[in-house]
Amino acid sequence: MAPPYAAAAAVVAVVLVLVLQVSAGSGADCRFPAVFNFGDSNSDTGGLSATFGAAPPPNGRTFFGMPVGRYCDGRLVIDFIAENLGIPYLSAYLNSIGSNFSQGANFATAGSSIRRQNTSLFLSGFSPISLDVQSWEFEQFINRSQFVYNNKGGIYREILPKADYFSQALYTFDIGQNDITIGFFTNMTSEQVMAYIPDLMERLTSIIQNVYWLGGRYFWIHNTGPVGCLPYAMVHRPDLAAVKDGAGCSVAYNKVAQLFNQRLKETVAGLRKSHPGGVFTYVDVYSAKYKLISEASKLGFDDPMLTCCGHGGGRFNFDERVGCGGKVEVNGTWVLAGKSCDDPAKRVSWDGVHFTEAANKFVFDQIVGGKLSDPPLPLRQACQSGRQ
Ligand SMILES: *[C@@H]1O[C@H](CO)[C@@H](O)[C@H](O)[C@H]1NC(C)=O
Ligand SMILES: *[C@@H]1O[C@H](CO)[C@@H](O)[C@H](O)[C@H]1NC(C)=O
Ligand SMILES: *[C@@H]1O[C@H](CO)[C@@H](O)[C@H](O)[C@H]1NC(C)=O
Ligand SMILES: *[C@@H]1O[C@H](CO)[C@@H](O)[C@H](O)[C@H]1NC(C)=O
Ligand SMILES: *[C@@H]1O[C@H](CO)[C@@H](O)[C@H](O)[C@H]1NC(C)=O
Repeated sequence: MAPPYAAAAAVVAVVLVLVLQVSAGSGADCRFPAVFNFGDSNSDTGGLSATFGAAPPPNGRTFFGMPVGRYCDGRLVIDFIAENLGIPYLSAYLNSIGSNFSQGANFATAGSSIRRQNTSLFLSGFSPISLDVQSWEFEQFINRSQFVYNNKGGIYREILPKADYFSQALYTFDIGQNDITIGFFTNMTSEQVMAYIPDLMERLTSIIQNVYWLGGRYFWIHNTGPVGCLPYAMVHRPDLAAVKDGAGCSVAYNKVAQLFNQRLKETVAGLRKSHPGGVFTYVDVYSAKYKLISEASKLGFDDPMLTCCGHGGGRFNFDERVGCGGKVEVNGTWVLAGKSCDDPAKRVSWDGVHFTEAANKFVFDQIVGGKLSDPPLPLRQACQSGRQ
């Protein structure tokens, strides 16, 4: 038996906890048992690599020590999310070798867009695995994983999710950047790109609704980053790079990203209204990335426009023809030209398109506590409605 004062202290503690919970939503962690992710290269953990050829070294050098399907020197924001929730890094759904889906799956592939593109990866570099395809993959994943879990058993019970997990999981989305860039890269004007944002929102809404109908309840939706601050965007459309803001970013590109985000925030609010059984969190990664780029030196980073793993030197050290890990022919032999800088931990841009692990960690630290979210819930509490 505990002495009576211990019991009294326990009562006080319980009352305190209750008081704290009332004043900050319910305050309890959600204990998400799984994460299912949809998106593009910002969160691809091996989908495009498994399908269209592996991301070459020096990708992966900082954390994994080898390429692991990520376009980064190390971990992505989705990896820090998994760590924070206490689940293993997500296996890519398309990666059939060595994968373990017991606590989630990743449907993202590099180059993916919300809309289907009328082109091929070989022509334009954009992925055929658009968001609608990712949602078909997810639908099959539920059906087939449950069939195999129940009928085959054995090892499959170790590497496939339990049925309950689909309604308890966190569903994360990070997509839209490629819908914007593909317009600009095919020489559209800002007005032409902005004109199809409503179409993007309709399609995104219908995919998220579909996941809801399939049982998903908790949604964590990233907005799109300041693409006008990224070397590849600047190099691809020098005309749009001409007018820069105080951080050296293209005003034209970022205006479109900001409009996309404004509409996305409204779209997420609409989903919250039409699906009161779900919890929808809009996460402003744009502000986290823009803060990093505009305050890079104050935050201990080098020039944010300078690509770490690139080629060609100059303002961006970015060459569209020779990417990170790319080789060039010198006197009949192929030699590595897209080399890493010495200290990726000091750089913002890894390969001119994607952020370094250090930058991703900064972004994650900005969003994990909820201060950039609507409603302002921490990641671990993204199953709470945020309403009092
Ligand atoms: C692809 O072509 C179809 C039919 O012409 C069109 O409706 C659609 O908007 C096009 N998609 C894109 C992304 O341009
Ligand atoms: C999943 O299973 C349900 C019920 O058997 C079926 O209606 C649906 O078409 C299946 N979906 C896929 C993608 O196989
Ligand atoms: C798969 O992951 C789960 C935990 O997420 C672990 O318990 C299990 O042992 C793993 N199985 C294999 C075969 O990797
Ligand atoms: C876009 O414009 C540039 C410069 O005028 C041209 O070289 C390029 O081929 C155009 N691209 C497309 C996809 O039309
Ligand atoms: C290529 O070969 C030429 C002729 O042998 C030589 O002068 C040059 O230095 C070589 N270039 C490199 C980069 O090795």
